[in-house]
Amino acid sequence: MMKYIRLVTGELIPAVGLGTAGLFEDKCEQALQWALEMGYRLIDTAWAYRNQEAIGKAIRKSGVSRSEIFITSKIWRDYLNYEAALEQCDQILDQLQVDYVDLLLTHWPSDALVRMRDHPPNIVSLEETLAAFNEIHRRGKIRHIGVSNYDADLLRQAQQISTAPISVNQVHFHLNDPNCDENVSLSLVDFCHQSEVSVMAYCPLASGWCPAKGRLLQHPTLAEIANQHGKTPAQVALKWVMDRGTIIIPKSGSEVRLGQNIEIFDFELSRDQVAQLNAI
Ligand SMILES: NC(=O)c1ccc[n+]([C@@H]2O[C@H](COP(=O)([O-])OP(=O)(O)OC[C@H]3O[C@@H](n4cnc5c(N)ncnc54)[C@H](OP(=O)(O)O)[C@@H]3O)[C@@H](O)[C@H]2O)c1
Repeated sequence: MMKYIRLVTGELIPAVGLGTAGLFEDKCEQALQWALEMGYRLIDTAWAYRNQEAIGKAIRKSGVSRSEIFITSKIWRDYLNYEAALEQCDQILDQLQVDYVDLLLTHWPSDALVRMRDHPPNIVSLEETLAAFNEIHRRGKIRHIGVSNYDADLLRQAQQISTAPISVNQVHFHLNDPNCDENVSLSLVDFCHQSEVSVMAYCPLASGWCPAKGRLLQHPTLAEIANQHGKTPAQVALKWVMDRGTIIIPKSGSEVRLGQNIEIFDFELSRDQVAQLNAI
């Protein structure tokens, strides 16, 4: 009963996928095995996650055909120059042991202050990075080009520069949580959709890498609405994010929670419940 989102290319992508940051080796392989058995067909990874070998191994063991699985990977911020991006894409394919990935993202803008206090050295122009991505695309090593952590201005520039369409912007997006200052606004999500760019929401539970560290899931409004549906607060939080028209990629290494995160298609939030959640 999976729901699908239509990308700008006309292709369909599952609305719920598996995030894999922080899953390593055997635990990663086990989570992938459970997830694929449960029907997950979208896997989000990245060169920086250091788990692509385990993911490739689990996919091969699963018996699910490669063409049924949508794999997203990402080029790390320090490898966005032309040659480095081409080389890192080859490493990604090699680690996963696949001929192509379905979606390749720039993990962060070249000047992003991620894991650094000062501006990173060797800032690369968007023109150079996107020339590399378009060349990788032309060579058939990726099926879609995307970006991550882009604001509206950067996204607009990327769309103007890239020959192949920008299919996805992967951003930090969840229900409002006052403990998180990284969550993007609904208006950026709306801007992406108006620009025909699908939004892939990371940290949809305001947990994992999110500064809010899962506190949102303790909110009494979530508990109350979850009770009304016989669901968990996490399932309600994920439903709210998915209902904003986004693709969600919650991460879990637990068989029970992997199951819960994909069982969100058998209930609907009422208009009143959405209003209550919007007010959190
Ligand atoms: N593009 C980027 O810059 C970027 C940045 C961050 C993340 N991401 C991607 O987005 C994915 C998701 O983000 P995230 O992992 O940071 O945060 P998240 O999915 O919001 O939260 C994951 C955390 O929530 C717990 N959890 C999972 N399902 C749960 C449930 N049903 N009930 C209660 N707790 C639950 C997990 O613990 P258990 O494993 O113990 O279940 C884990 O600690 C990442 O794995 C990664 O693929 C991308």
